[in-house]
Amino acid sequence: MNHELVLILDFGGQYNQLIARRVRDLNVYCEVMSYDTPLEEIKKKNPKGIIFTGGPSVVTEKDAPIVEKELFELNIPVLGICYGCQLIGHIFGGEITPSENREYGKTDLKVNAENILFRDVPENTSSWMSHTYYIKTPPTGFEIIASTPSCPTGAIADNKNKIYGVQFHPEVNHTPYGNQILTNFLFEICGCSGDWIMADIATEHVKALKEKIGDKKVLCALSGGVDSTVAAVMVNKAIGKNLTCIFVDHGLMRLNEGDEVEEIFTKQFDVNFIRVNAEDRFLSKLKGISDPETKRKIIGEEFIRVFEEEAKKIGSVDFLVQGTIYADVIESGTKNSAVIKSHHNVGGLPDVIDFEEIIEPLRDLFKDEVRKVGLALGIPEKLVFRQPFPGPGLAIRVIGDITKEKLDILRKADFIFRDEIAKAGLDREIWQYFAVLTGLRSVGVMGDERTYGYTIALRGVTSLDAMTADWARIPYEVLESISIRLVNEVKEVNRVVYDITSKPPATIEWE
Ligand code: XMP
Repeated sequence: MNHELVLILDFGGQYNQLIARRVRDLNVYCEVMSYDTPLEEIKKKNPKGIIFTGGPSVVTEKDAPIVEKELFELNIPVLGICYGCQLIGHIFGGEITPSENREYGKTDLKVNAENILFRDVPENTSSWMSHTYYIKTPPTGFEIIASTPSCPTGAIADNKNKIYGVQFHPEVNHTPYGNQILTNFLFEICGCSGDWIMADIATEHVKALKEKIGDKKVLCALSGGVDSTVAAVMVNKAIGKNLTCIFVDHGLMRLNEGDEVEEIFTKQFDVNFIRVNAEDRFLSKLKGISDPETKRKIIGEEFIRVFEEEAKKIGSVDFLVQGTIYADVIESGTKNSAVIKSHHNVGGLPDVIDFEEIIEPLRDLFKDEVRKVGLALGIPEKLVFRQPFPGPGLAIRVIGDITKEKLDILRKADFIFRDEIAKAGLDREIWQYFAVLTGLRSVGVMGDERTYGYTIALRGVTSLDAMTADWARIPYEVLESISIRLVNEVKEVNRVVYDITSKPPATIEWE
């Protein structure tokens, strides 16, 4: 697919995915690559522009991540953000020093509105700063085009060679004209046209899949989640019944979820659909297990076993579809991160299936782009806007050992929570919201009788990418109606609590 491309060189900053998102929102296709990508590879990509991200390093220190100076001789416009800005200053001989007043957060910004980078930005505005170092003396050939009270070089420009640096973060919402600044860079400076449009993307992907797969056979492990569903439907549009989907229902889904997935794939799309009801198998393997990591491992392994058995009945296939999305690709590229939880996705399959190649049709799309493509492919909104749901399902939301009875209680509670959130019109605002059956039982009183029931914890979080999250400020009245309904309708529950921890230090799921 020949779209114009902007390259984002990653120096390890925390907003890197956000930069990519912003660029794509402006209908310009971009890719994030490591800062040390060889020059030859960059040239091959033929980008219309390059953005350097921020990062935690200090550019003057030994072993700081840098780029070769030749990069600037390719005649490709460059925009450096935060660390990226200091890097430009450093490479061209400016002086980088620690600032006397470390700036963090919203800061007044005065810009030279004459500069093309600040077209349609008011002279006095504000920006989001997060730095301890700054460019004290800009390099020769560069002019200062913005400043803040503590940072005289808020932005620098070499207009002739189209090299720009901003010390602040235009990609975050707290920089009110950030989007305008990125727009100016992409369209005025790089000359992009903005040809990355979602409806076309869906059609193009389907066409490319049709050409690639031809009349060969494809197998897909369907989890019912957004990504695997969109990937499967896309492949189905391309090759019809040559696609077989295996849906392993582990009995750890939410209320009616298994049936809903089945209904869509059997009624709405013409796919070879195999549902394996493996609840008993999973529950017996999980019997008496309380440790979260052990639960995850058991489910992951059992999933592969069930899938393998079904796949063997089909025999060899040519391709295996996976719903990997761009965030997975970027994330798996990060080095040295500690294992907090072993994630179970339908990703660990290739070893056990006889196939030629994996196809990952969503590999270059972010989650919300996957959703847009899903809608363009005709997948119902209800499925497309499903909240993220972990592979191990409700097993990691029943604290302690798992029984069918506990799962059923949780399913009822979770359904009520979701129903009330939808009624309050908050379902698209909150990233994830679900009930947890805590292992705790406590005393209550109902109709003059003592009760000894379960405590349900409600978890609702806002997030951009699940890496960090804050607890959702659900209005008290909504919490109240959820609580009343919960204890009235789920007889085993007599206490409801709301989880008010952010991530970090907590995680989104309880296990
Ligand atoms: P935590 O709990 O680590 O979760 O803050 C971050 C996000 O990942 C989801 N999650 C999973 N997703 N397989 C998945 O596909 C898993 O094993 C898994 N565990 C957690 C979680 O729901 C949240 O969106």
